[in-house]
Amino acid sequence: MKVLITGGAGYIGSHTTVELLEAGHEVVVVDNLCNGSEVALRRVEDITGKTVDFVCADIRDREAMDAVLAHHDIDAVIHFAGLKAVGQSVSQPLTYYENNVNGTLVLCQAMEAAGVRRIVFSSSATVYGSEAPVPYVETTPRGTTSNPYGTSKAMVEKVLEDLVEADERWSVALLRYFNPIGAHPSGKIGEDPQGIPNNLMPFIAQVAVGRRDELTIFGGDYATVDGTCERDYLHVVDLAVGHLKALKAVSERGVSVYNLGTGQGVSVLQMVNSFTRVTDVAVPYRVGARRAGDLPAFWADAAKAEKELGWVAGKSLDDMMADTWRWQSGNPEGYGG
Ligand code: NAD
Ligand code: UFG
Repeated sequence: MKVLITGGAGYIGSHTTVELLEAGHEVVVVDNLCNGSEVALRRVEDITGKTVDFVCADIRDREAMDAVLAHHDIDAVIHFAGLKAVGQSVSQPLTYYENNVNGTLVLCQAMEAAGVRRIVFSSSATVYGSEAPVPYVETTPRGTTSNPYGTSKAMVEKVLEDLVEADERWSVALLRYFNPIGAHPSGKIGEDPQGIPNNLMPFIAQVAVGRRDELTIFGGDYATVDGTCERDYLHVVDLAVGHLKALKAVSERGVSVYNLGTGQGVSVLQMVNSFTRVTDVAVPYRVGARRAGDLPAFWADAAKAEKELGWVAGKSLDDMMADTWRWQSGNPEGYGG
């Protein structure tokens, strides 16, 4: 297939580009580089020995999207492009809705005009809201989201469902990711957040490499295994392979929804201890106050993806730690180093 990857210069997009190229698909990447790097794409070329067709453009630029779709015979779109910082979305809601919701509308309008009607969308476990029973299962309706980032994901899911409802030629896969971490085993590509990391794994990695003094664990008094929050961490390469499998789902019409996770909850303290056990590098930490908006514990019921797509998150927590450290220790300053 020839696949257009929006946001392909970012963390999950670059790993997915590797898996697609290695599986023999052709790929065109569109990214405005607001949070991605062209170096990542050069590294993808190193890993795969193939050339990445890259267009530096914003998905909200209708003319640019029309031109990309006119110049390439695209079979399907995998849509990663978006802003993802939960805290920033609270202070800049208009920016988040403009980029994530309006960006998707413009992309879909360009797709419709070009007759390309298959899309795989990067959604999130956050759409289940705060009340859903754990483990989260796809039959549970979307819940009340608690920040504009999460709401933008829920809104885009609804837009894409309505599109299928209106025109059965569209096919849509909504992939609800849990917590992707890790890096490609080559150590050449990985997560490279700008500024202070919001997420746990890059924070641990930056403390370990000496860029930050210590980790603050947000809350030690939850009703969980050891008082710290539990999440379902999955290896980014497994997640990337999930997109490859989802291309199969969008070959059929309609909407399909899949949780992509391991089905296992792991606590923050367990994460810190696993990192140190696997890498032999200490991570100084202190337990601080809870972070507003955090849920105590959630993980996926990932049975549907296994049954229908033949997908399982096969890589272990040790793989996630070892691969994160290979990337971070080999690239202490990320792509900028
Ligand atoms: P990322 O920031 O590394 O990648 C997103 C890419 O999209 C970046 O390269 C950025 O430059 C690009 N981009 C953003 N807005 C754009 C626009 N208007 N036009 C063109 N390019 C644009 O993030 P990621 O972790 O790779 O996440 C990819 C997708 O997965 C996002 O939609 C994110 O919301 C979703 N997601 C991520 C997580 C996670 O924990 N990383 C969890 C659930 C869902
Ligand atoms: N945490 C810390 N210290 C830190 C950073 C995080 O203790 O410095 C804790 C958090 O409190 C949480 C856990 O580590 O308990 C994981 O936090 P992350 O920020 O890494 O991940 P979240 O589960 O909060 O959010 C992630 C993505 C969201 C997505 C959500 C649900 O960042 O985009 O998963 O899929 F919506």
